[in-house]
Amino acid sequence: MKKIVVIGSLNMDFAVNVKHAPKVGETILGDDFRLTPGGKGANQAYAAAKLGGKVTMLGAIGDDTYGQMLMDNLRNAGVCVDYLKKTKDSSTGMALITVDENSDNSIVVIQGANKEVDIPYIDSMLDIIKDCDIVIFQLEIPVETVAYAARRAKEFGKTVILDPAPAQCDLPQELLENADVIKPNENEILTLLGADDSLALDNAVGLLREKGAKNILVTLGADGSCYYGQDGSEIHVPANKVKAVDTTGAGDSYTAAFAVNLSEKKDIKSAMKFASRVGAMAVMKAGAQTSIPTREEVELWAEA
Ligand code: RIB
Repeated sequence: MKKIVVIGSLNMDFAVNVKHAPKVGETILGDDFRLTPGGKGANQAYAAAKLGGKVTMLGAIGDDTYGQMLMDNLRNAGVCVDYLKKTKDSSTGMALITVDENSDNSIVVIQGANKEVDIPYIDSMLDIIKDCDIVIFQLEIPVETVAYAARRAKEFGKTVILDPAPAQCDLPQELLENADVIKPNENEILTLLGADDSLALDNAVGLLREKGAKNILVTLGADGSCYYGQDGSEIHVPANKVKAVDTTGAGDSYTAAFAVNLSEKKDIKSAMKFASRVGAMAVMKAGAQTSIPTREEVELWAEA
């Protein structure tokens, strides 16, 4: 099996159920507080390992209890955490999450140690990157680090997957060019372009391509996902209909599942179908890593 390296964030998630996310100046009451492991990078590493991938996580934690808990949780799922940076200068990243009555979330990330994933750290990890096949990035560590690491990964001939979340406008062109697959959701693709929702998806895809993107995989929530290949191909996979409890981490598990199937040499459409199933299963339980199914559970669910 091919090896996957995830370079990204680790956060401790503080989540609470609310009727709606608070408006400016509003105090609201919440319910059912949860403290669970998260961080887009760690969620992807955890999911990829649970789904049968051979995974190493690169990132940073503080020298504190939350960092230790996050590291232990990844290790228990089979992720190699030997090369995580442990810093005394910042505390472990955190995320404050509200989950509303439609099961949709709002998230504030306090980057903490994630900010310390810098270029010297990547330089000290080049042998790990050289030794893998697929590298997955998100944007909760400094974007210049992501751009640099993606450039080095491409120089070594690796497959680069970029999950551009949290999305930001005007990503470096070289980062878009170095991603073999960029996987925004329908809102993120607009944010990447600085556009509003009057821009149709096909046009957004065209504009992102003009900025250097190659293959673009857009997740569309209840409408499934759509892959726009560099060669002009278009693949649509419908969503699996489920009753959502909490959408936190669903996008991360989609990305991870897609990468695991690619690492098994499955074709794009099969990888999208697998990823859709995993994403659907992830919304049926609360939390990010706590909601991710095992490979066996996904296969049983597919047969049912
Ligand atoms: O994508 C979900 C994740 O976003 C959460 O786990 C939270 O930590 C934030 O990084």
